[in-house]
Amino acid sequence: MRNNLVSSMSVLAQKALQVLQNNWKEGFTIPCEGLYPFQWNWDSGFIAIGWAHSDMDRAKEEVRSLLKGQWKNGFLPHIVFHNDSDTYFPGPEVHAAYVSDQSPEMKTSGITQPPVLGFVLEEMYHISGGDESMIPFLSEVYDRVFKNHEYFYSLRDPFQEGLVYICHNWEAGTDNTPVWDFIWETFEVPDYDLDRRDTKLIDASHRPTNKEYQYYIHLIELFKEWKYDDKLIAQHSPFLVQDPLFNSMLIASNQSLIKIGERLGRFEMVARLKQWNAKAVGAMNNKLYDSKQKGYVYYDLRNQRKLSYLSSSSFTPLFAGIPSADRALEIVRHFQGGSFSGANSENFLCASFDPSSAYFNSQKYWRGPIWINLNWLIYKGLVKYNFKNEAEQIKKDTLYLIEKYGFYEYFEPSKEKNKALDKGYGGNNFSWSAALTIDLLTNTDTL
Ligand code: SER
Repeated sequence: MRNNLVSSMSVLAQKALQVLQNNWKEGFTIPCEGLYPFQWNWDSGFIAIGWAHSDMDRAKEEVRSLLKGQWKNGFLPHIVFHNDSDTYFPGPEVHAAYVSDQSPEMKTSGITQPPVLGFVLEEMYHISGGDESMIPFLSEVYDRVFKNHEYFYSLRDPFQEGLVYICHNWEAGTDNTPVWDFIWETFEVPDYDLDRRDTKLIDASHRPTNKEYQYYIHLIELFKEWKYDDKLIAQHSPFLVQDPLFNSMLIASNQSLIKIGERLGRFEMVARLKQWNAKAVGAMNNKLYDSKQKGYVYYDLRNQRKLSYLSSSSFTPLFAGIPSADRALEIVRHFQGGSFSGANSENFLCASFDPSSAYFNSQKYWRGPIWINLNWLIYKGLVKYNFKNEAEQIKKDTLYLIEKYGFYEYFEPSKEKNKALDKGYGGNNFSWSAALTIDLLTNTDTL
């Protein structure tokens, strides 16, 4: 095991570690004080990577705590409510996961988030330097992460295409990307009483609108009516989307589970993962790649139509090694004089939605601002395909914004607008921004 790295860390990395320490709550790390006071699924994955650099025991505990929320059928919820808090809406009583006969004792939500855990385990092992003492831990958690993949490919892929669906915008992680506007157009929602706390804590103009929240809550109300039964959701949910980021995360995690499974001797599971994975990679390339947009896009399974919009999610298949080398080159042009960089590099990389689109909004949550986890995924993808300059550029932009403003939740892409700013957007002291900064600074990649 590598020695504790804290003493050799840069000042920025030490500040990042302090954010993680402040957000640590007896066994797990909250994403952000007040705004997100519980354990969130993909947040915890990225956070575990940050912890792994200085405190592997905490990284392991983070993963174990998340898995405490796993359902009997392998489903992994997007929030695990280990603790009480009155600063977040919707809390456990709105999600009411207990109506499902699959839910655990623990209070959880009934929707999921991008499945990052498989590749997080591989990252942790890599950060440990391939240390033997990691093997018992990997062996302890492996079957449960495998079961989560089995859940996805057996219950979330109704036409057995190799692509899994998401049924809620919060499952995407990219909560209010403009792409969802085209889903909201397809159904009406009642007027629910909303008890929003987020807009009391931070600038409401950086958050989704109340109208959008009506859709978010309506979907949860429907799922509760159906007792979170996956078959009923597949048959009736008005939101049923094959999302490029979500499927890329699952594919990257398949590949990590294959490598770890081979090391652990779980050969039957490895054989099944290989089958799922080959089909999934083919389906991503055949169904979700848009050759006009030159990026991976979304498929609306409920209404049988492609939603051909580019977001930062469109580039995450690089992380999972999905595109061919030629296709990767086509994708990378978005970062060289394309609409994401701007013709004269007027934007920092990488906006969360296409800056040339009429739907782009540089300040609002997932409708344009830069997010550190997406930058990290794209950076790693560029490294994988050996695009050295572009990888260096996105890393440089990421660290510049963090160094200038601190560990905000999201950031302004326009270089011009940044001249007048003195902070980032959304919450501050945001855990995955800190965790992935540590990883970027520690630089265990082979650039
Ligand atoms: N990220 C969501 C929120 O904003 C929940 O997962 O509340």
